[in-house]
Amino acid sequence: ASKYQPFVPVRLTDRTWPDAVVTKPPVWCSVDLRDGNQALIEPMDIERKIRMFEQLVKIGFKEIEVGFPSASQIEFDFMRKLIEEKRIPDDVTVQVLTQAREHLIRRTFEALEGVPRAIVHLYNATAPVMRRVVLNMSEDEIVELARTNAQLFKDIAAEHPSTDWTFEYSPEMYSDTEVEFSKRVVDAVTEVWQPTPQKKCIINLPTTVEHSSPNIFADMVEWTHRNLLRRDSIVLSVHPHNDRGTGTATAEMALLAGADRLEGCLFGNGERTGNLDVVNVALNMYIQGINPGLDFSDIDGIRATVEYCNQLPVHPRHPYVGELVYTSFSGSHQDAIKKAFSARKESDIWDMPYLPIDPKDLGRSYEAVIRVNSQSGKGGISYLLEAEYGLQLPRRLQIEFSQIVQQEMDSLGTEFTAADLWKIFRKEFGMDV
Ligand code: KIV
Ligand code: ZN
Repeated sequence: ASKYQPFVPVRLTDRTWPDAVVTKPPVWCSVDLRDGNQALIEPMDIERKIRMFEQLVKIGFKEIEVGFPSASQIEFDFMRKLIEEKRIPDDVTVQVLTQAREHLIRRTFEALEGVPRAIVHLYNATAPVMRRVVLNMSEDEIVELARTNAQLFKDIAAEHPSTDWTFEYSPEMYSDTEVEFSKRVVDAVTEVWQPTPQKKCIINLPTTVEHSSPNIFADMVEWTHRNLLRRDSIVLSVHPHNDRGTGTATAEMALLAGADRLEGCLFGNGERTGNLDVVNVALNMYIQGINPGLDFSDIDGIRATVEYCNQLPVHPRHPYVGELVYTSFSGSHQDAIKKAFSARKESDIWDMPYLPIDPKDLGRSYEAVIRVNSQSGKGGISYLLEAEYGLQLPRRLQIEFSQIVQQEMDSLGTEFTAADLWKIFRKEFGMDV
């Protein structure tokens, strides 16, 4: 017998989305500086936080969760620095997180003194395991906790009318909570906040720990989307984590199910296996012809900044950004890419075998696409010689030369660069002095 409980799917809604496609980008919110940062071996210092903040602004995030100011002095100081040094652009709203505890909420608003606009994000856990084991609170007590602290938000914000406040609430562990109960808690919060279609609040549904498959989560989101009170006054956000490795699918299905907004991190940094990788979702949209509203045209520069700030490497096979993801070593792939490149006109739609996205759109070059090792064939070898040295080999010579190269590679077992190939060519065909 297994010690794990099977997930019993409950058909919550008569789903409308399986054949739907996402047609517009969500509101994006980066949580790199909060959820991402709290998961780092060495959390960012102020200099790295500023670098990350500026990078996020440059990419085009309009909502950025910059920290948890009541959690530590450095988080508090960073918030103050952004405000006092006027580093927040007019079209960007900073967001901060706080637990539902009075002294933490007061400290959070203190950190925000003088900010022109801010999203203040309240959370408390709602799942049965947290109620029973960690908090020792009844359902009614959880509802009361959320209601009281939502009221405190409203009262403190009213004392600072010069700031344009937006409130956000997360039932932490929403994906492990009974949907009827999370609706009860969320409705209690929105009854206090009284959002309107003109001044919405954000309700954020996290898969704090991803336990179930994306379709089950999306079913819950659709139920919540259909049943929340004041839905027209709510921006419905989701906050997937990636414990099952399905954060991207979870986010995409949640958008189909009615979510308006996504919270996540660049390249999926974050607690444990990470937060949702927002780059994946944005570029998945991009290759379906939807402008995500985020700019990844210098993906290598972004990766370098993120690696510096997080002090963590991005995997060479990471979708869209990894060092190897636009590279083919296999001979048949190289041959197909080479043929498609020579047949392609600049105005053609992108219809390229083995390359889902044009590497140029992300600031990558075609040269990196084809690399040569013992798995490669004449196509890749002649492509590199032509691209780097302008050498156009006739077909028979391509075959002859690739056999020579193959023998060398079989004995050495390493990758060959264009310069290596050129050297062998000159030696074999008597061009060396
Ligand atoms: O994953 C989570 O539940 C969170 C909340 C605090 C929003 O990060
Ligand atoms: Zn989280």
